[in-house]
Amino acid sequence: MRRRFDDKTVLITGASRGIGKQLAGDFAREGARCLLVARDLAALEANLEQLPGPDRHAAYPCDVSSKEAVETLARSVLAEHGVPDILVNNAGASRYTRFLDGSIEEHEALMQVNYWGMVYCTHAFLPGMLERNSGHIVNLSSISGKLGTVRHTAYAASKFAVAGFSDSLYFELLGTGVRITVVNPGVIATHLFDHASFVDFPDEVRRMMKPPHLLTRAILNGVHAGKYEVTFPRMLWAGVVARAVCPPLYRTLQARFLKIRRTRPGAPA
Ligand SMILES: NC(=O)c1ccc[n+]([C@@H]2O[C@H](COP(=O)([O-])OP(=O)(O)OC[C@H]3O[C@@H](n4cnc5c(N)ncnc54)[C@H](OP(=O)(O)O)[C@@H]3O)[C@@H](O)[C@H]2O)c1
Repeated sequence: MRRRFDDKTVLITGASRGIGKQLAGDFAREGARCLLVARDLAALEANLEQLPGPDRHAAYPCDVSSKEAVETLARSVLAEHGVPDILVNNAGASRYTRFLDGSIEEHEALMQVNYWGMVYCTHAFLPGMLERNSGHIVNLSSISGKLGTVRHTAYAASKFAVAGFSDSLYFELLGTGVRITVVNPGVIATHLFDHASFVDFPDEVRRMMKPPHLLTRAILNGVHAGKYEVTFPRMLWAGVVARAVCPPLYRTLQARFLKIRRTRPGAPA
């Protein structure tokens, strides 16, 4: 029986763990050849061994925040496997830090991997897709690319950038045969939250975490259906709509959920 991604080559950045690792397994089980990219080569090689038909797949160590490293990656991939049918820009990192508690360098680093890493990879592989009039770019944004929330200034900015880039590229790609999907996950149980800054991440939010396989199932369905946007869980749309329709009400409810007290100017702290 034909599977949904038979004969497709899928390049996944950030495939050493978390959502990227789960995506590689899902795509491989659906027939795809997977090219796994991340900095940790040992983890990528261990993941390859767990994929069905491990010899069909390949691992490429690369720091996607480096333009030169992505150019080198693209040369190797194009020479060894040709243009990927699907590029999943998934590599990313997060911090749970108040704006003034983080250094400017930390802001720059998140933008570099979350936004510029996606730009470098898209710039490297899109020309080949356009040349043969087919391909699919999948960009992992976040619900933080739709709604700002506390202690996420650097992360939200980088994901709003991914969302804006994707919204714009969507129109450039119309009629080319190349598609784009942007993914807005809520909180997913991965190593993203292992960073020390998440030590006091609210329990209310942790309790909302979903396992990666539920998200990746929604991503594969969305990609296969050619959807532009995948938001998971879907009820997060309620927040997006509330913010668009009545921003003050949204901010009041969000502040209440986050247990942030509003102080009036001049009131004692
Ligand atoms: N988990 C969530 O709740 C959530 C919610 C919304 C959006 N997302 C997005 O989903 C994506 C995957 O996150 P995750 O939750 O799976 O996190 P994760 O478990 O921490 O995995 C992050 C992946 O990105 C890779 N990576 C990080 N920096 C890299 C770099 N400079 N170059 C290449 N690879 C790099 C890591 O591999 P190496 O360390 O080996 O390089 C790892 O494979 C991210 O874009 C994240 O923003 C996650």
